[in-house]
Amino acid sequence: MKALIKPNEYFEKSTYENEKTNLFSQVWNFVGFISDFNEVNDFIVSNISGIPVVVQNLKGTIRAFKNVCSHRHSIIQTTQKGNRALMCPYHGWAYNEKGIPFGIPKKPLFNFTTEELECLKLEEYKIEICGSLVFVKIKKDDVSLSDFLGKFYKEIEKMTNSFGQLIDINEIEIEANWKIIVENTLESYHVALIHSETFQKLGAEGLDFTFDKDNSLWDAPVLIKENEGKQSKIYKPYQKRDYKIEGYKHLIIFPNILISSTYGVSFNLSHIIPISEGVTLFKSYVFVTKKEEEDKNEVIEKMFHDSLINFNRKVFDEDKVICQEVQKGVKYSNYDGQLSDEEARVGHFQERYKLYIQY
Ligand code: FES
Ligand SMILES: [Fe+2]
Repeated sequence: MKALIKPNEYFEKSTYENEKTNLFSQVWNFVGFISDFNEVNDFIVSNISGIPVVVQNLKGTIRAFKNVCSHRHSIIQTTQKGNRALMCPYHGWAYNEKGIPFGIPKKPLFNFTTEELECLKLEEYKIEICGSLVFVKIKKDDVSLSDFLGKFYKEIEKMTNSFGQLIDINEIEIEANWKIIVENTLESYHVALIHSETFQKLGAEGLDFTFDKDNSLWDAPVLIKENEGKQSKIYKPYQKRDYKIEGYKHLIIFPNILISSTYGVSFNLSHIIPISEGVTLFKSYVFVTKKEEEDKNEVIEKMFHDSLINFNRKVFDEDKVICQEVQKGVKYSNYDGQLSDEEARVGHFQERYKLYIQY
């Protein structure tokens, strides 16, 4: 099958601008984990379709607002994350849980009526949660997160509720369009050449794909069973976990979140964040599932964590190198690109992408 996304759509600025308006502002965007908002005033900032957004625990509820002050336009929360009142750093306007300015220094100088203050409310966006993941949507429509995730909702909920200790956060900047990186994660055709010493050894293979709405899933057997040989010691503390799978599972939450798991013991969540048409931030989290404390063997645990971290980092470094080569080549290609059955999830991603992007 011919690829549907044309070479120019991987490097043209106009396509990138179009994606902000017609894609990223329309879908549910991952912004963080529930644990990022445990305390009152915990916040994270995000850029969704070009709009600065702050997501913050305000009096116990997670809310999302445009991160721009109603007084004279300063950004309100100026760090990536933290714990701080929702207060502008410029002249000190403070906002309440509804996003309405309530603490204004030298307030009488403005002569505001209550109604006038309510009209200065920060623009608010919808928030929804699935498992341990928090999502925000810019578009004001009725498509719920559960509609959006379709039949994968339950799986994602179960998987992400099983996330235990976060053992690594890895951020790498890649000189490639975000779609090249997403598409690379959606096929295993490249594994033999690119990951011969890493992912290939896991032995995940096959074409067991499930598609629903914008999202897709790959189920794959792996070479070694969970408790075979040397592995039985490593996995012993995790035997009572709720979420168990036989082999390897990889799913996309359209358009730019990938979650994978081996045995339901280790997890990777990768967030592919476009910076410009040619540069992407690849932010990847590694978790292990919750374990029974009494089984603690620190030496084995540390070895296990280190090997997971190294494995994930190596695989993504290998992907980075090849994705940058694709970005260099795509500007000069005369062809539309070809997709095999092993790249069916790339085809599905492209089909769904095309439904959003209008010219
Ligand atoms: S710009 Fe925010 S308080 Fe003045
Ligand atoms: Fe890869």
